[in-house]
Amino acid sequence: CGIVGYIGTQAASEILLAGLEKLEYRGYDSAGIATVWEGDVHCVRAKGKLQNLREKLAGNENPAQIGIGHTRWATHGKPEEYNAHPHMDTAMRVAVVQNGIIENYRELREELKSRGHKFRSDTDTEVIPHLIAEFLAQSATATPAHSPSRLVEAVRQAVNKLEGAFAIAVIGADYPDELIVARQQAPLAIGFGSGEFFCASDTPAIVPYTRTVLTLENGELARLTPLGVEVYNFAGDRLRKTPRTLNWNPILVEKQGFRHFMLKEIYEQPGVVRTCLEAYLNSDWHSSNGKPPVNLSLPAELYTDLEQIQIVACGTSWHASLVGKYLLEQLAGIPTTVQYASEFRYAPPPLMPNTLTIGVTQSGETADTLAALAMEKERRMNQPPQFKPRLLGITNRPESSLGLLVSHLIDTHAGIEIGVAATKTFIAQLVAFYCLAIDLAYRRQTLSADSLEKILEGLRLLPAEIEMILEVQERYIEELAHGFVDTQDFIFIGRGINYPIALEGALKLKEISYIHAEGYPAGEMKHGPIALLDAKVPVVAIAMPGGVNYEKVLSNAQEAKARDSQLIGVTPKDEGEAAEIFDRLLPVAMVDEILSPIVTVIPLQLLAYHIAARRGLDVDQPRNLAKSVTVE
Ligand code: G6P
Repeated sequence: CGIVGYIGTQAASEILLAGLEKLEYRGYDSAGIATVWEGDVHCVRAKGKLQNLREKLAGNENPAQIGIGHTRWATHGKPEEYNAHPHMDTAMRVAVVQNGIIENYRELREELKSRGHKFRSDTDTEVIPHLIAEFLAQSATATPAHSPSRLVEAVRQAVNKLEGAFAIAVIGADYPDELIVARQQAPLAIGFGSGEFFCASDTPAIVPYTRTVLTLENGELARLTPLGVEVYNFAGDRLRKTPRTLNWNPILVEKQGFRHFMLKEIYEQPGVVRTCLEAYLNSDWHSSNGKPPVNLSLPAELYTDLEQIQIVACGTSWHASLVGKYLLEQLAGIPTTVQYASEFRYAPPPLMPNTLTIGVTQSGETADTLAALAMEKERRMNQPPQFKPRLLGITNRPESSLGLLVSHLIDTHAGIEIGVAATKTFIAQLVAFYCLAIDLAYRRQTLSADSLEKILEGLRLLPAEIEMILEVQERYIEELAHGFVDTQDFIFIGRGINYPIALEGALKLKEISYIHAEGYPAGEMKHGPIALLDAKVPVVAIAMPGGVNYEKVLSNAQEAKARDSQLIGVTPKDEGEAAEIFDRLLPVAMVDEILSPIVTVIPLQLLAYHIAARRGLDVDQPRNLAKSVTVE
């Protein structure tokens, strides 16, 4: 979900809507805003996309200069209007928007109900305004009615009752000059304008107005008034905080003439790979000059006596991590595991010494990934030195919650991604893993100077190879994709370093076209999935020559062909053998197998994109998904 808030001298509702538009990638099941004017809270909500809320608000003159807004990704309760945020207390004097999950909401709700509170939704959030209203009522006897500290104090008391992860923004009918926000394990940033202040789950909603931003930390709340911002901890102590100035490239959040953000981001990939390589590869490296080939600016203690690496991630980042595992093991010889963060956090492997834990996330906010890393950090804290936590994050959002949690980061330099289906952030994560694996291989001397040189040379050529696919092949891939708009099932196969790319190709297609697709290691197809094959189920096989896998994948593809499947090959064009086997080609350049994921994934992204676009689907905001999943 996404939350926004505004307090200042302009009309709030337009600013709230503009902010929600920038956060819609976080969820789009329903949206709503609440403002305070003439002593009342005015709340308007609508099911579905933000456009529905806009239509509902059209023609409504709303002069309020304070308000909060929300765009929802449903967790508790169906995506209906009555479950849309903001939520209010019984007397409708306090309004709250929330991102997160309140785990103890059932018991709180029962208690509140028994004290006469009336609930109107199925959400976990609704307990919050009721709690705040109750604390406000209790303090009415103790402090003067409109005492400025009352609302923030009531919110403070309420958040102390909540269990779970949340970020909230609160306004009250009797407090037209106060906007209260609080954060516990869900992101929240405050923007400092002149005489006006903003809050939002993510900075794109704030940067059109100001680049001076303060990110709240866990266990902090803030009181925003037209005069300034006060920050407290949940115990009520006032804290001193300094906002920072954001670096921001506005181009990244505009479509720039592309039909969808996803297509624009696919086209940004050559630039992203180039930027990331330029940031980390030493351009004047030579095996004889004694300089390291890669400079990630990571401290030596991260690498000392390293025995194993464990990676936690979700979704597409998990696929990038599987490629990372391949590189770390095959190039640098370090045993590496990759786990889904949601599994790792509740079933962590036994503690091993000298372990590097890597969290990979494009948003830097995925609740499961952050929780897995926090758990690992904590359980290693009071251990003998060889077990001490060594945490590294890989992300394109260094300013995110991940950045607060881990002491070391590799910034993939992909910038923010808007399309919900990850493309350029995935490619950038791969590049980061190449850099890390090369760095480790160099330090551990697991690669000859020749092999190192060959890989570095190959990496530098990749941006041009991606450009070639985009320039020369996109039209053709589009035409090919159109032939599959009515297909119901797809199988993707690959081996070795391209097995994760088969998974990613299938995930892309599922996410945006809603076509059922599965990815398998090619050798596994015969152990089950082959039963699904017939003329209606196309098989996409990734076959890169030059290694042990090529012939094997071709044999596996033959097995599919013998079951009448249409065969689509991701393979270099001029390979005679492949051309004979495959019915259709998604051609890629002839690159070394070890580097090939960076090119083989490109036609798969385009295939998924063009099938979904042809089906007339909402490519950038596919149903039921969100870009940043800040709940468990
Ligand atoms: C969501 C997104 C996916 C993403 C996953 C992990 O489900 O829709 O595209 O891969 O979260 O996100 P992260 O930000 O941790 O990479």
